[in-house]
Amino acid sequence: MRIVVIGGTGHIGSYLTPMLVEAGHSVTCIARGSREPYREHPAWRSISYCRIDRTAEEAAGNFGRRVAELDAEAVIDLTCYYPERAKQLVDALRGKVGHFLHCGTIWVHGSSSTVPTTEDEPRRPFGDYGIRKAAIEAWLIEQARTTGFPVTVLHPGHLVGPGWNPVNPAGNFNPEVFAALIRGDEVRLPNFGMETLNHVHAEDVAQTFLRAVELRSAALGESFHVVAAKALTLRGYAEQMAEHFGRSAELRFLAWDEWKSGVPERDARVTEDHLRHSPNCSIAKARKLLGYEPQYASIEAVKEAVEWMIAHGVLAAGH
Ligand SMILES: NC(=O)c1ccc[n+]([C@@H]2O[C@H](COP(=O)([O-])OP(=O)(O)OC[C@H]3O[C@@H](n4cnc5c(N)ncnc54)[C@H](OP(=O)(O)O)[C@@H]3O)[C@@H](O)[C@H]2O)c1
Repeated sequence: MRIVVIGGTGHIGSYLTPMLVEAGHSVTCIARGSREPYREHPAWRSISYCRIDRTAEEAAGNFGRRVAELDAEAVIDLTCYYPERAKQLVDALRGKVGHFLHCGTIWVHGSSSTVPTTEDEPRRPFGDYGIRKAAIEAWLIEQARTTGFPVTVLHPGHLVGPGWNPVNPAGNFNPEVFAALIRGDEVRLPNFGMETLNHVHAEDVAQTFLRAVELRSAALGESFHVVAAKALTLRGYAEQMAEHFGRSAELRFLAWDEWKSGVPERDARVTEDHLRHSPNCSIAKARKLLGYEPQYASIEAVKEAVEWMIAHGVLAAGH
């Protein structure tokens, strides 16, 4: 199949783009070319690159036409964050593409209600990003139902992979939390450490996009969560990471306001966003309709990323 991947060199694309080539598809990757993929793979040599600045082309009203001109059978859009930009692209692809796959986020759910959260829960997003992504999803699914536009939406959890910092047991990206666990130092967690995180290895997101492409009729008009099989509590996450470093976790639990006042303002903001969402999403639908089976448990995905951080000097190794 001729497949266009928009944003095919980022966290997800670094796995997905070579995976599509290995599966026998002919792949064109749209990106500005400002970065290297996170992983090397011989398949990168078989990919066509289309150097486009999406933002500039959208502003000029040309982006949809430029993608349509590539004459793809399937288009995978990994980098759409605004409803009007999804609309511009979809309007240009109507009648021209056999399958359009949009990368969403589990943030469309807002705060968890009954867990594990299923895809059919009413959306209660908060925060700009979640609200916009939920609006894109709602519009795309409505297009599938009312006009037959062939769309699938995949909602990943917190992306993890070697090459970037994963969300840590305090719910932010500060590597010092892993460093403290490596040293066996005390780690302070907010509340009772029972709020949840829902990671997923980028390779598992990639395999789900591939499955959705290849099981098109099961995927059409549907949204799917793509996360690890089980969410982690902050506490359980910290304990399992400490164990990985041969330590027992020295945890101290602080009421939210006290915890927040002891960390940099940016970390507090990121943690608050993760805690208020406390995602815990079900993968039953992706398992049933797409045969999705995660290769990585959350903790195994994070261990791989943290080992990469140690190997690349982002974190000091234990002793
Ligand atoms: N990060 C998470 O934990 C997370 C969680 C859930 C859902 N998501 C969803 O995942 C998607 C993002 O995927 P990702 O994390 O794999 O992306 P990413 O790592 O941010 O990669 C972005 C890709 O888009 C390209 N790009 C960026 N700006 C561009 C522009 N102006 N024009 C053309 N290409 C551009 C980049 O290459 P160049 O820089 O070379 O252009 C790169 O290939 C989003 O839909 C997001 O909502 C992310």
